Amino acid sequence: MLKVAMIGFGGIAQAHRFAYWDCNRRGLPIQLVGACDTDLEKFRTITKINLPTKGEITNELPFGQYTDWREMVEKEQPDLVDICLPTKFHAPMAVAVMEAGYSVFCEKPMAESYEQCKFMVDTAKKTGKFLMIGQCLRFWPAYEYLQEAVKKNLYGKVLSAEFTRYSPVPLWSKDQWQTRAGKAGSCLAELNIHDIDLVRCLFGNPLKMSCKTQDIVYPYDRADSQFIYADLTVDIKSAWLGAETEFNANYKVEFEKGILTYTRDQVIFTKTDGTAESIALPDRDGIMGEIEYLAEIFDKNLDNDRNPPQESAKTIYALEKLFESAEAGGKVLDFGDCQ
Ligand SMILES: NC(=O)c1ccc[n+]([C@@H]2O[C@H](COP(=O)([O-])OP(=O)(O)OC[C@H]3O[C@@H](n4cnc5c(N)ncnc54)[C@H](O)[C@@H]3O)[C@@H](O)[C@H]2O)c1
Repeated sequence: MLKVAMIGFGGIAQAHRFAYWDCNRRGLPIQLVGACDTDLEKFRTITKINLPTKGEITNELPFGQYTDWREMVEKEQPDLVDICLPTKFHAPMAVAVMEAGYSVFCEKPMAESYEQCKFMVDTAKKTGKFLMIGQCLRFWPAYEYLQEAVKKNLYGKVLSAEFTRYSPVPLWSKDQWQTRAGKAGSCLAELNIHDIDLVRCLFGNPLKMSCKTQDIVYPYDRADSQFIYADLTVDIKSAWLGAETEFNANYKVEFEKGILTYTRDQVIFTKTDGTAESIALPDRDGIMGEIEYLAEIFDKNLDNDRNPPQESAKTIYALEKLFESAEAGGKVLDFGDCQ
């Protein structure tokens, strides 16, 4: 049984809590044994975010509750620490937790800079601890199917691809840190990062990239990026919209044999002759998928080949390039070398 303790019990922690609870009731070998938040109120009034869970969960919290993570790990002796903190704490906390002798599963974006990401990866190597970042699209059924379609060449070559992601402004976050964090809290860093990572996972590093951003209400709250490959240009768009907006993620990928679209939780393949088929997908989300994956690789002692931290680090390298391009008015930049 993989024992997990969580640091940060705000918004996204609730989706994690649901996933642990769901794995547990299905008999998978993973269990949440403790959670820690510096704000005790977070254990009394549960935070709601833009991600609806795939079912109801009670607000009973059958695990230890703490305000100090060191006290929590000492008492609970977890195998894995799940970090659900605001982004600026990811690198220092992940490093401190690994140095203290515990493995880490940390929310995305990995860190605020590529330098910090490299330090996290180096610390994992030095301490021999496991490190994985919550780039959950790699485990989201609609995006898993897309990975399969591209990697197994189900529909021929990809001719064009676009990814969009719109979310209500994350006003649930503690002291609204995301709207105050400038670049680090922007839709490019917090929202677009999902598609940036997925596009890299599908097609590798681009040759060139560009990004244009706007500041409608908050800094960088609209972002429009392009990943330019030898024979393909991928568009990635995201925005923090009004607080009442419904969360909405989509893709449209044009293959030689037809178009695969994901919209309103449905994946449809439309052949070039106009006939369409709906693709059946498992009824779970990507957070549940990645937590199930953690249970499996720890239980069977498998390598983490689906989401290694070095790849998450390169996604942050790409993010830094996109900011560089945005600051130069959307200038097309070489991807360069991120070794
Ligand atoms: N995978 C996804 O789809 C997804 C969705 C939303 C957020 N996120 C990521 O999750 C992370 C957290 O975002 P959120 O929306 O949950 O933020 P949040 O503000 O709702 O939650 C963060 C919590 O951390 C607590 N905290 C701060 N410092 C602490 C410390 N030193 N020790 C213990 N607790 C501390 C705060 O009190 C707060 O409750 C961010 O990096 C964000 O990008 C991921």
